[in-house]
Amino acid sequence: MIIELYNMKRFILFLLPLLGTLSANAWSGEVAIETPNTVLVLYAREGGDLRMAYYGSRGVSLQELRDAGANLNSSALPAFGTVDMVQLPALQVLHADGDLNLELKVESYELKTEDAAKTHIFMMQDKLQPVTVKVFYKAYNKVDIIETWTEIENAEKKPVTLKRYDSGHLVLRQGEVWITHMHGNWAAETEPTSEPLTGGVKIIRNTDGTRNAHLDAPEVMVSLDGSPQENSGRVIGAALCWSGNFELRFNTISHKEHHFYAGIDPQSSEYVLDPRQTFETPHLALTFSNEGLSGASRNFHRWARTEGMLHRGMKTGDILLNSWEGLYFNIDEARMIAMMDDISQFGGELFVMDDGWFGDKYPRKDDTSSLGDWVVDKNKLPNGLDALTKAARERGIKFGIWIEPEMVNTKSELFERHPEWVLQTKGRDLKLGRGGTQLVLDMTNPEVQDFVFKIVDDLLTQNPEIAYIKWDANASIQNFGSLYLPKNRQQNLYVDYHLGLLKTLKRIRAKYPDIVIQDCASGGGRANYGLLPYFDEFWTSDNTDALQRVFIQWGTSLFFPANAMACHINHCPYWNTGGRVIPIKFRCDVAMSGRLGIELQPKDMTDEERKQTSTCMADYKQLRQVVQTGNLYRLISPYDQKGISSLMYVDDARRQGVLFVYKIANYYDQPIPRVRLAGLNPGATYTLTEKNVRVGQKPCALSGKRFTGRFLMEVGLEMPLREEYASRVFFIEN
Ligand code: GLA
Repeated sequence: MIIELYNMKRFILFLLPLLGTLSANAWSGEVAIETPNTVLVLYAREGGDLRMAYYGSRGVSLQELRDAGANLNSSALPAFGTVDMVQLPALQVLHADGDLNLELKVESYELKTEDAAKTHIFMMQDKLQPVTVKVFYKAYNKVDIIETWTEIENAEKKPVTLKRYDSGHLVLRQGEVWITHMHGNWAAETEPTSEPLTGGVKIIRNTDGTRNAHLDAPEVMVSLDGSPQENSGRVIGAALCWSGNFELRFNTISHKEHHFYAGIDPQSSEYVLDPRQTFETPHLALTFSNEGLSGASRNFHRWARTEGMLHRGMKTGDILLNSWEGLYFNIDEARMIAMMDDISQFGGELFVMDDGWFGDKYPRKDDTSSLGDWVVDKNKLPNGLDALTKAARERGIKFGIWIEPEMVNTKSELFERHPEWVLQTKGRDLKLGRGGTQLVLDMTNPEVQDFVFKIVDDLLTQNPEIAYIKWDANASIQNFGSLYLPKNRQQNLYVDYHLGLLKTLKRIRAKYPDIVIQDCASGGGRANYGLLPYFDEFWTSDNTDALQRVFIQWGTSLFFPANAMACHINHCPYWNTGGRVIPIKFRCDVAMSGRLGIELQPKDMTDEERKQTSTCMADYKQLRQVVQTGNLYRLISPYDQKGISSLMYVDDARRQGVLFVYKIANYYDQPIPRVRLAGLNPGATYTLTEKNVRVGQKPCALSGKRFTGRFLMEVGLEMPLREEYASRVFFIEN
């Protein structure tokens, strides 16, 4: 029956072009896709493709745009064969017979209404070949975010190849356009890089294979009023919700019209789509704000927390101690329990045992072995995980554990059993990653997906008290080849890897919705909205140097909310930044601006460091709700070389806020700019209370003073920041 209907549909689709007319339900019209403050205006002519007329502040109509003489001829999703070749295609399909064109016309339109959002669906059909493209726009009712994506259905008899399959496209006609994208590296993630769009094509791409946020990240801010400002100007923000290779593309045509495209990177991933298969592209989340970069960031944060893009949602994260930088691989039962003593004495809530706890035949002594062998190393932990969860319970804290499920070392029992499970090409030498032995498992293979699921399932069924998992991924795909995928489907590997990963994560979440899982990939390599729906937070960077963290966390906050961002107090001198020593107060204050934790050997701390850490944790508990779930206002950028950096969080009611100020340069006769606050109620009066006051000092003179929101925002505060690495944290309450 299904097949008959299916053939019938194909027959009708085949007849349509011969009839030379539109089918009965062909759609022509206009749609205003609205969120509380924004609108995306689309329209189609009879028998024509879908056109994009406008994206920006709500209240603009197609008629006004027409009256104003705006050029409205841009395709919403330019397809190769539909649009002139000046517009780069967002979509290109190689049909079974070699035809490379798609002439898409809108056949019908559907509106799906849910509690949180309305989804507008445009069904488009090629005029000649039985390929259907559905374009989706999901507009949220309470958040200024529109998600767009497409579904491409192959109703041809033979496979077709998706040569390009972007998730979305925008046309931007407004004058001087700048983009801010995140560039970086391991231990130096998310440096916002701003530049004007000039003529030609600009491509931002990541081809790591497993992670996509180290070098270049899949998000971009587009400032429409010249160089980007934090709290003013029109900004479009875009985040591709995908964890694999991507391409963000800008095409500027004669300096007037800029086209933006975002999708899976089609290089090495021209996707083969079998007959009757439908391919759904990752979602592209878009926002518009006329409150500058910070405004666009707040929209993303709110969407992440309230609309399920962050598994943690509005919940706050526990204060934790992670064993990695304090012990590296040198863990054992006594040291783990001693660390639990320390974190509970500081007032923390969770202890996480990092790498080094596993391996039987090949115990994990360093990074050269054991990944894949997820059994306790009985030499290090003779009483197993039981002894550790019991010790945590006795101290009134939770227990968490590190795993790296998608990876294996050649020196492991898993590799001996299943060499065919690693990504590879028969006959080619394996290129080895971390430790000279690390390889990536083939997540396209359902057996591997089951194995990965079982790692988590076994851990959690055998140790039901585990409350937190740190899920790491420390290798890129260096061996492009799958023994599972057929020879003529190898080009699907990069994409199918991530579809396999997502399938496994969904399975884990279906069984374990409440366990907290941290998304880590050599630091912030997987901070993206493709994975966050399955994770509660991410490890922001393997660099915990507090000064560099001011910069890294600033860039990360452009798209990600504070309760997703793990920020840990480190030890000094710090190896990653050439032995830099930073006072404990500054280190605490920087970590307090995200999800607070600590990552050092407490036994090596001085008395002052211990006292300050306890003060910080106690104060953080009072501030945590506002910091982790409040609205972020970035005030003074560390990149602006003003000598200080400042940011603040304000709750929805604008009653409470938390202000952070960091002195990041120090020299004689240094001008310290006034810090002008934002996001407050101008007419309300606020009391300032200094928090995490430096051990042995009194709160500064500003503490206890009252100011109107207007004064704080218009005039601002002179900050007492005398010594090197001075920093201040204030609770602000009306
Ligand atoms: C990665 C992570 C670190 C740590 C190590 C363990 O580098 O980013 O935090 O977990 O792996 O090997």
